[in-house]
Amino acid sequence: MSLPPGFLDEIRNRVPISRVIGKKVVWDLRKSNQARGDWWAPCPFHQEKSASFHCDDGKGYYYCFGCHAKGDAIKFLREADGMEFIEAVKLLAAEAGLQMPEPDPRARERTDRRTRLLDVTEAACRWFRLQLQTGAAAEARDYLLRRGLDRAAEDRFEVGFAPDSRTALTQALRDKGFDESLIVESGMAAKPDGGGAAYDRFRGRIIFPIRDGQGRCIGFGGRAMDPNARAKYLNSPETPLFDKGRNLYNLGPARAAVAKGQRLVVAEGYMDVIALSRAGFEGAVAPLGTAITEDQLRLMWRVSPEPVIALDGDAAGQRAAQRLIDLALPLTGPGQALRFVILPVGQDPDDLIKAAGPGAMGALLDGARPLVDLLWARETEGQVFDSPERKAALDKRLQDAVAKIPDELTRTHYTEELRRKRWDLFGSQSRQIERRPTDRKFSRRDRGQAPRPVPGATVPPQATAALLEGASLLICALRPELIARAETRLERLAPQDPDRAALLFDLLSHSESPAGRRGLETLRRDAHLGLTPAVIGSQDDETALATLDNLLDRLEAQRAAGAELARAEAEIQGEADEGLTWRMQQIARARHRAERPELEGGADLNEDREALSAQLSQFVDGQIWRKPPRR
Ligand code: UTP
Ligand code: MN
Repeated sequence: MSLPPGFLDEIRNRVPISRVIGKKVVWDLRKSNQARGDWWAPCPFHQEKSASFHCDDGKGYYYCFGCHAKGDAIKFLREADGMEFIEAVKLLAAEAGLQMPEPDPRARERTDRRTRLLDVTEAACRWFRLQLQTGAAAEARDYLLRRGLDRAAEDRFEVGFAPDSRTALTQALRDKGFDESLIVESGMAAKPDGGGAAYDRFRGRIIFPIRDGQGRCIGFGGRAMDPNARAKYLNSPETPLFDKGRNLYNLGPARAAVAKGQRLVVAEGYMDVIALSRAGFEGAVAPLGTAITEDQLRLMWRVSPEPVIALDGDAAGQRAAQRLIDLALPLTGPGQALRFVILPVGQDPDDLIKAAGPGAMGALLDGARPLVDLLWARETEGQVFDSPERKAALDKRLQDAVAKIPDELTRTHYTEELRRKRWDLFGSQSRQIERRPTDRKFSRRDRGQAPRPVPGATVPPQATAALLEGASLLICALRPELIARAETRLERLAPQDPDRAALLFDLLSHSESPAGRRGLETLRRDAHLGLTPAVIGSQDDETALATLDNLLDRLEAQRAAGAELARAEAEIQGEADEGLTWRMQQIARARHRAERPELEGGADLNEDREALSAQLSQFVDGQIWRKPPRR
């Protein structure tokens, strides 16, 4: 029904939104300011004890600071009471004392036509039901019995039978006074291309009536009994009643079940829905012979914030899941989530319930995985991420996916969750690499020796920078002739520790200060990466400079990685760009320089080069995706 302009505003002006919402919430009167029409309550859309749900009579809007639910009175009635748009308008109009407008004549005509079409489909539905009891349907009844459908289930799902006749239904409908054009428009009969009498669309099939959310019969699905039939299922064509992409099989009963606390389960087929319902999972729906559409997702979310998608364990089911990830990401957010159950290979819910019982199905549903898990699996399964480039490629894909999520908070949580998964995976993959016996790096272990203790290796990654910094300063203090050759890089050191900062200043300005002396004494006492004053003093100039360069290279690589963390976090949530990949390459390059072979055989440091570079790579991994807090 089309409403005249201004009608909705009139309703909004007349009915304070708090009056509508007040029927569903308990206001926090201490926080609210009634005189100003400023109301607060615990949110009806998510679980909470505090009152973060706000509504403003002046603006006619509500907004929850917790789950971000928002809208006007109509939206509220739709979301909180599951009303249809026009239902909500009618209720509010009554509350406002407004007459609902008369539908305009064209709209009325359309409504009348729809009503007539519905008369046809309802009549057909009854007729199919009756046919199932006739002698001609003996085979159909056998088929249903074989599939485990009893009389109660047949009644509940109004299962019928279309006899194998070209005109039986069309004739029966004509006899009831419906004209041919109406019968054809309802989808019950088809007109041959070359002209001639209309013929029945459904022939020799088990019939499943399809009803919309209001319980109106909008179309049918027909199951062939012959396993060699050209199409296993035949559905009503698109008609003014039947819009395949905007309806779901069993929506009405499922909505009622969800309202009573059942979960919304989305299966692939009609038989699955019936099997699920009979097994006690009454919140079951299915798309209508096509892949799930965006409209259907929205429809599901109006019934439940977290439908469970139960897809067949075959290739088609897997593909459907992949499509659904891409379809759902741009729509997902608080109150609009999905979970997935992938059934064992070769089984659909109907098969599984038959084979393993409702308990097994329930267990599967309980273990349904969130969308983020499927996304992660899709992007990582069967792959090895043993190079910065591969890791960068993965990050890019994940970034692109997360960037599709419109809700900022949801994006943040996706990022966190993906980072956690990334940490776990890379951790376990590098452990696997450690265990690889051919890896030269771990030859000591292969010879059965305990790994040699590495200076600094047990120091947590954050402390390693300080260690490298200390060693650099110590070299400079002991070999001041090197300072000029590394001056610019030394200036960038900017030590946090005041004594070290003073020492650096002293070194660069050829001066001395008490704090600087203190800093040097501390450094002398500590063994920095095995670089004792004796070792440093014995190195020739070029080796000492190479060691210093090497230390500074690493330090810069680490700092770049550290700075990257903040940016990576910001970026993975925001616009996907090439920046992260580029910077990861820079880090990889700096790391490569730090490990360059010409240093081999130099200072003590180089003996532990491999171990240290392993430590560094661990650091780089750990920093870009810092180890997240355990849940
Ligand atoms: P399936 O092939 O998974 O069949 O199709 P099913 O639901 O398990 O059916 P049974 O158990 O063999 O009877 C899933 C859904 O895809 C649509 C139907 O909606 C079906 O329920 N479909 C399938 C068609 O529209 N046409 C077909 O030819 C096959
Ligand atoms: Mn099946």
